[in-house]
Amino acid sequence: MSSARFVNKLSGQRVLLVGGTGGVGISVAQALLEYGASIVLSSSREAKVNAVCAQLIGDYPEAKDRVSGFACDLASPNVEANIEELFKKVGEINHIVYMAGDRLPMIPLGEVTLEKWQKCNQVRTIAAILVAKIGTEYMKQDRHSSIVLTGGSISEKPIAGGWAMLALIGAGLNGLARQLAFDLAPIRVNCVAPGIIEKDLWQGMGEEGKKAFFAAHESKIPTGKVGQPEDLAEAYLYCLRDANATGIVVNSNSGTFLM
Ligand SMILES: NC(=O)c1ccc[n+]([C@@H]2O[C@H](COP(=O)([O-])OP(=O)(O)OC[C@H]3O[C@@H](n4cnc5c(N)ncnc54)[C@H](OP(=O)(O)O)[C@@H]3O)[C@@H](O)[C@H]2O)c1
Repeated sequence: MSSARFVNKLSGQRVLLVGGTGGVGISVAQALLEYGASIVLSSSREAKVNAVCAQLIGDYPEAKDRVSGFACDLASPNVEANIEELFKKVGEINHIVYMAGDRLPMIPLGEVTLEKWQKCNQVRTIAAILVAKIGTEYMKQDRHSSIVLTGGSISEKPIAGGWAMLALIGAGLNGLARQLAFDLAPIRVNCVAPGIIEKDLWQGMGEEGKKAFFAAHESKIPTGKVGQPEDLAEAYLYCLRDANATGIVVNSNSGTFLM
């Protein structure tokens, strides 16, 4: 029996990371490269995609042939054509990890408008379903192929202040993973639901605002520390590696549900 049956599970697999140039995406990409996978990064800006690819190649020079990336703007009215174009460039793929999200839409209910609600959905849900539809044409019909969506703990654990749209989106993504696990079977579909993760997403609060928000949260959560991107990367790896996991939500949230 090989002594590396587990370690090599992702070796040689091609994984597309949609929204993979953010804090969480970069950690998942690093983990995948360490496990021998090839990664294709995508996000809206070509310069950012190229910069992150260069950063990863700098970190893992031995993996330079396993790193590539293409821009694809999911906020555009031409989103469907953009996604078609992306997959033509990417070609055959074993897994898709979908983690694209634009600026955090924390808006009090009184300020929600049709336009804001539509905008908030475009990248996080509308484009996600289109990526799943188009992307599966490029995947083997096999339980070793999979899609991982990204929701959030807010879907199960409401908190005060402007989170209504994100709560609905998060719950919708959990439901989408369960439904697509049937619709796309045997391709597996799962959802990772992060709690608060220390990354760029919270930049909108400003450095001081972020520190105060994290400190208040850390005084309550069982682990006493907000999640780090390298913690969350493990949840994605699990979804990719367990060919028996489909239609599930994997939580990585500092014990938030116990509060
Ligand atoms: N960090 C947390 O605490 C937390 C908690 C719960 C859930 N999440 C979710 O986890 C995911 C990753 O989090 P993160 O912290 O890594 O976020 P992030 O740093 O803001 O990264 C988001 C990614 O989405 C891409 N993106 C944004 N607009 C896009 C567009 N129009 N088209 C294509 N790509 C676009 C960004 O690249 P460009 O801007 O260059 O396009 C980036 O690659 C997000 O969906 C987030 O909502 C995060």
